Amino acid sequence: MRMTVPRLALVTLVVVVLSCAVRRADSQKPARVPRLWDEEALRDWAMPLAGLGVPPSFESSASYYARPVDNLRTWPVYHPRFEPPGYREELLRKGPQPLITLESLHTAQDWIEIGRVVFESLDTPASRTADPAVLAHFTSAESVDRHRDAHHDVLTRDGILLDYRWVVDLDGQLKLSLSSCFGCHSRRLDDGSLLVGAPSNYDLGDSEATGALLDSITIGPGLSPGERFYAQFGVPWRDDDPHARLRSLSAEELGRELGQPDGAPPGTMFARFNGSPLHATRMADLRGIRHRAFLDATATHRHRGPEDLARYAILVEYADSTAFGPYTMLPASEPLARVRPPDEAMLALALYLESLEPAPSPHPFDARARRGEAVFREQRCADCHPPPHYTNNLLVAVDEWVPPEPRASELSPRGVGTDPGLALYTRKGTGTYRVPSLRGLWYRGLYEHSGSVGSLEEWFDPARLEPEHVSGGWRGPGVRTRAIPGHEFGLRLPAEDKQALIAFLRTL
Ligand code: HEC
Ligand code: HEC
Repeated sequence: MRMTVPRLALVTLVVVVLSCAVRRADSQKPARVPRLWDEEALRDWAMPLAGLGVPPSFESSASYYARPVDNLRTWPVYHPRFEPPGYREELLRKGPQPLITLESLHTAQDWIEIGRVVFESLDTPASRTADPAVLAHFTSAESVDRHRDAHHDVLTRDGILLDYRWVVDLDGQLKLSLSSCFGCHSRRLDDGSLLVGAPSNYDLGDSEATGALLDSITIGPGLSPGERFYAQFGVPWRDDDPHARLRSLSAEELGRELGQPDGAPPGTMFARFNGSPLHATRMADLRGIRHRAFLDATATHRHRGPEDLARYAILVEYADSTAFGPYTMLPASEPLARVRPPDEAMLALALYLESLEPAPSPHPFDARARRGEAVFREQRCADCHPPPHYTNNLLVAVDEWVPPEPRASELSPRGVGTDPGLALYTRKGTGTYRVPSLRGLWYRGLYEHSGSVGSLEEWFDPARLEPEHVSGGWRGPGVRTRAIPGHEFGLRLPAEDKQALIAFLRTL
């Protein structure tokens, strides 16, 4: 869709600047749009869960496609001081706009371009609100500023307030909503620019308006606080499930257990449905996703091509699994979402994401980095992290788990002994961690599957193996010190070699 009004051309311009690092497409224009939520394709897609022996169940294709389609474009929310004159009036005048129209897509590049729009545009439909109190907050510079700081309700250089979107709904009303993919998968760099697709490092502010938006997407609103917690995170097939204890707690008690500082910088971690605040996941880096054979730190799903990536996007925003073997975690009366996006929008989104490569490193490949590359070779890091993508795409079983059947083509013959929490005690727990790519380490921020490590220096510091270690990354709610075990490669190198190795890794 082309913008014709000059005022709104500004919006288009901002968006183009954000995506300047996108590599030109070498993918093909899709010959047709497949049915993405297809039972045949879903059958072998998810990996079996440790202790359960089967993958999560999926909503049936018939039920998914019976949902109403939500095909609405959304627009940036400006800080009131930066909003172009007449911006919201213009959005209202144009009325509800489709996110995607198939007839306008002619070339592979058209698909990628609209995929970028979809990535920025997707919101959480259930959060859309015309509540005057919410709108009043976001249209008052003074009110917005009162709840902003360096990490919350942050702005782009152009004055766009990240994490929120405007949408003109089918009823013609202008509504505010929470941003989806973009809010968790774009990163503010030190120079103030945004790196799209990189893990986020900013979070929502604490205004009542934001609270109201969040309340509207409460999972299992009919459940007690403890039951809601358990519905999101409980692992009923484990006798030693660490979430079971919290099931009977009141909101206040849960707040005491989980509301403690967990060490991670704001906006860098997220305990999503089927994850866990006790074994959290760091925000993922989507740049370079094309080269990864599995999705998620625990390889929950295969990545066989763009259609799997599109399915993953559907899964996390619209159709997450709520049933696991014999266990159903949410009552059927409380579904996670009630609409579905057009298949073509999710396919375009996937084609766009597959076009994102890790951003080129600003760190020079100098003599020290060259020395570091030699250390990398000598230490045989490339056994698991071979160039050019610096991953062998294999899975490493955690020490406490023995795969029920040999899966030689997927499993690394060597373990790394890192913390088994996420891989065993969550519904993302496949018993394995994948070997991550080392490209883009320079901007990634947190390291290790749960983001337990705050810098490469810390990752290669043997002091992290001790229980008194104070991590520079995520520690867990209320945890002050803990060991970060495993992956002892490179820990005992002489100081100079270690610095060289780190210098090399920062160039990737
Ligand atoms: C509230 C934050 C949040 C939102 C919203 C979100 N994600 Fe994510 N995403 C995450 C986190 C955290 C992970 C890491 C999960 C893990 O490792 O288990 C992740 C993982 C991923 C992965 C796997 C990356 C990899 O390296 O394997 C993809 C792909 C992805 N997200 C795409 C999307 C898309 C597309 C959307 C929008 C439909 C989206 N995400 C919305 C937080 C979010
Ligand atoms: C046996 C396979 C193996 C070898 C050998 C190996 N790694 Fe790894 N590496 C892994 C796995 C698996 C992880 C993820 C562990 C986790 O998150 O629990 C990882 C994680 C990392 C990370 C953190 C990446 C991130 O985004 O969190 C870095 C950096 C790294 N390795 C560098 C190295 C270097 C340098 C060497 C050599 C000194 C090396 N690795 C040797 C398998 C290996």
